[in-house]
Amino acid sequence: MIDKPRLTTSAGAPVPDNQNVETAGARGPVLLQDYQLLEKLAHQNRERIPERVVHAKGWGAFGTLTITNDISKYTIAKVFGEVGKKTDLLIRFSTVAGEMGAADAERDVRGFSFKFYTEEGNWDLVGNNTPVFFVRDPLKFPDFIHTQKRHPKTNLRSKTAMWDFWSQSPESLHQITTLFSDRGLPVAPMYMNGYGSHTYSFWNAEGERFWVKFHFKTLQGHKHYTNAEVEKIIGASRETYQEELFGGIERGEFPRWRMEVQIMPEADADNTPYNPFDLTKVWPHADYPPIEVGIVELNRNADNYFAQIEQAAFSPSNKVPGIGYSPDKMLQARVFSYADAHRYRLGTHYESIPVNQPKSPVHHYHRDGQMNVYGGIKTGHPDAYYEPNSFGGPVEDKSVKEPPLRITGDADRYNHRDGNDDYGQPRALFNLFDDAQKGRLFDNLAAAMDGVPDEIIERQLAHFHLIDPAYAQGIRAARAALASRPKDAISDQESAAAE
Ligand code: NDP
Ligand code: HEM
Repeated sequence: MIDKPRLTTSAGAPVPDNQNVETAGARGPVLLQDYQLLEKLAHQNRERIPERVVHAKGWGAFGTLTITNDISKYTIAKVFGEVGKKTDLLIRFSTVAGEMGAADAERDVRGFSFKFYTEEGNWDLVGNNTPVFFVRDPLKFPDFIHTQKRHPKTNLRSKTAMWDFWSQSPESLHQITTLFSDRGLPVAPMYMNGYGSHTYSFWNAEGERFWVKFHFKTLQGHKHYTNAEVEKIIGASRETYQEELFGGIERGEFPRWRMEVQIMPEADADNTPYNPFDLTKVWPHADYPPIEVGIVELNRNADNYFAQIEQAAFSPSNKVPGIGYSPDKMLQARVFSYADAHRYRLGTHYESIPVNQPKSPVHHYHRDGQMNVYGGIKTGHPDAYYEPNSFGGPVEDKSVKEPPLRITGDADRYNHRDGNDDYGQPRALFNLFDDAQKGRLFDNLAAAMDGVPDEIIERQLAHFHLIDPAYAQGIRAARAALASRPKDAISDQESAAAE
């Protein structure tokens, strides 16, 4: 017999009976004083917290970053301090649009969020599996997300809304081309790249600033599903990512990525032919070659999914000395949005939840509030609850101040589409694809547009035409083929998957 611990209420009192409710007589009604019943029902009613407003479906694991190349001439960030240095991390992958119960293998952008537990606080890099995004102005983010979520009346997702928005937002073409290409439907998290996507900044010991982009290249190789394959996959299991990631790590198959950075000296930003802070653009590798930094490995599953993955709170506002923001408008908005979402979704003191706690010392003057579970104040002295004080409370450290950033210009609302080439980089991507990849791109787009009003489709095709006439023509041909095909033959389309 196993020696079992005694069951108690959450107040610690032993429970005499967890099988039979307390009633007035054997056949009588339940007594209100059966607090064990009340407590169980009340807790059950509170088991769900709000799901993330976007990126609700996710999969995560713990691991390490090991530095393989010295980049300390660009940044004082201690996480990159020396070759061989290891930093603990958490990654959460996600889809953007689906709710918590969505099928894993749906075509969508994948979230790729890091929490690096560095010795100078948590550094979160909250990116995607794509180097660019659909919009470049944060005012458009809520509108864009509304087109990805359910229609308010039908409660169904609306292809019309998606293409109506995209066809009036040509800055989305780069991301659309990525999403509907093979890489828009990875087989599992380990078979895709991650990107910080935004331009961030580094600064070094001399106070020089560099602009930086982060890349994480899969060492498992890219693997994708086609639309036709995935119908069968989802029919068999809606949880394929969790099965592959969790199962792989349990079996000791630890996925790895090579971390790389692209570095741009601060002054170059005035001279690039594109805005290097525009989230719909990449920096061509020929101009800014990727530099290896280290290896990321995932090697430990969470013990409790809710506590460690669902309650994980990632925010672009979590940065550490040596790493900074950039003028990217989208990034600036995200600095506000995430911690605000966490206070709503998890509570005021969400950083006291163990998975969110830094592994370095934390000293601040925040007080009280819902869920203050860290015990009093975080200053180290009971009388030091304001600043400045005479009781040895924590003080600022000017040595970690970021170098000043020169900003010029009149405050105004500048049209972000003026003089901005939305077609050149999608064209470079389109030209990377071979004929078979292009064929699948056309088929995926034709299927995604099926049923959308002609006026919207024509507006969108005009944009594809400006990328390359063959792009628009290919979609037209795929649409014609789709229209002439008997409906039940569509799911039997030929498929080809991995690169
Ligand atoms: P390069 O040829 O130097 O780089 C091409 C990049 O594209 C590589 O990062 C590669 O990633 C990625 N790539 C290769 N095949 C595909 C594919 N089928 N679907 C999506 N990405 C693919 O060219 P440039 O730097 O001049 O970029 C050309 C285009 O490549 C860009 O317009 C952009 O759309 C895309 N791209 C560029 C990136 C960048 O940071 N410059 C990053 C990712 C994509 P991998 O090494 O994993 O195969
Ligand atoms: C999640 C807002 C753009 C990647 C979220 C959440 C919000 C949000 C509110 C939920 C956070 C939570 O509840 O924990 C925004 C806003 C954006 C924006 C306002 C633009 C103005 C982006 C971009 C990327 C991105 C450009 C990628 C480059 C993610 C990821 C998550 C997420 C990966 C899931 C994080 C996790 O795993 O917990 N976003 N987002 N978002 N967002 Fe964004």
